[in-house]
Amino acid sequence: MDEQTTYTLTREELAPITERVAVFGPASLSNLGPGFDTMGLCIKGFGDVVEAWLTEAPGVQVRQEPGTVDVSVPVDPEKNTAARAASEVLKQAAATQGLVLCIRKGIPLGSGIGGSAASAVAGAWAANELLGRPFSKEDLVEAVLEGEALASGGSLHGDNVLPALFGGLVLTSPTRPADYRRIVLPRALPLALVLPRIEILTAQARAILPESVPFRQAIHNAADLAFMIDAFHQGDWASVGRHMMCDRLVEPVRAGLVPCYEAVRTAAVEAGACGCALTGSGPAMFAIAETEAGAEAALTAMLAACHAAGIEATGLVTEADAEGARMA
Ligand code: HSE
Repeated sequence: MDEQTTYTLTREELAPITERVAVFGPASLSNLGPGFDTMGLCIKGFGDVVEAWLTEAPGVQVRQEPGTVDVSVPVDPEKNTAARAASEVLKQAAATQGLVLCIRKGIPLGSGIGGSAASAVAGAWAANELLGRPFSKEDLVEAVLEGEALASGGSLHGDNVLPALFGGLVLTSPTRPADYRRIVLPRALPLALVLPRIEILTAQARAILPESVPFRQAIHNAADLAFMIDAFHQGDWASVGRHMMCDRLVEPVRAGLVPCYEAVRTAAVEAGACGCALTGSGPAMFAIAETEAGAEAALTAMLAACHAAGIEATGLVTEADAEGARMA
């Protein structure tokens, strides 16, 4: 722990009155093409770790851990998604104690793979664990949605937090965010993920979306999402990929924020991927493939496309994570 951290409370007040716990909040892909604010998938390979302990002093204090990938995470608990979610859990439990949260970011903010959601989920989970688990995973839904709302201009959308909490592929309702459904994938889903080195803040990427959309385009999106959900149930990745690339409402608007968007999509498909899309508000893009070797080929092509467009990028081959948040 960094002894130089500036405290707003005394050391005695912040001293642990319990064991520390460490919780892992995984990364997630969201939207998946036509499923704007409606569909998300928990993935392996990236995540945030929140270490926490209870204090006698009420309230939530946030510290940055050394070695974090992102030092721009706000330590003001009013602006931090993990703190907001943890604070909601304390409130719901009517707890008199407070918490210290040490956040080690494994997911850069503004990358499109659910960094704010991973922290929110880990924060809520850690608070629940320290209080002796008064709540089930399902009971934490409201708290994690509240945490995520901080990062997206107040919008209560669950397409990152719910997959990060429950694991796997999750459908959620933007108008009734506490409604969700898990879709069990019948076979492994190989993924290639690229992270162009551009930052896009979710709140900004939401602000550029239109207030209303043409009726015909909305119908197309509804149909593509419906077919895509059926294809996920069937394990038909070729069909998932086709429908995933048909979003007419959101990606066409956001594509302008990612200069290598078209090149990466084309490269993925030419390399044999089933489909390729932005995740969340971008700039990260992912492709799905029939096999791990197919995902490797897509990743190589997608990274080459980024570099050819003059954009630095990193990437990895990954797969769905069925477990979600867990003790680190
Ligand atoms: N569905 C959200 C969006 C995900 O695309 O804005 C990012 O939090």
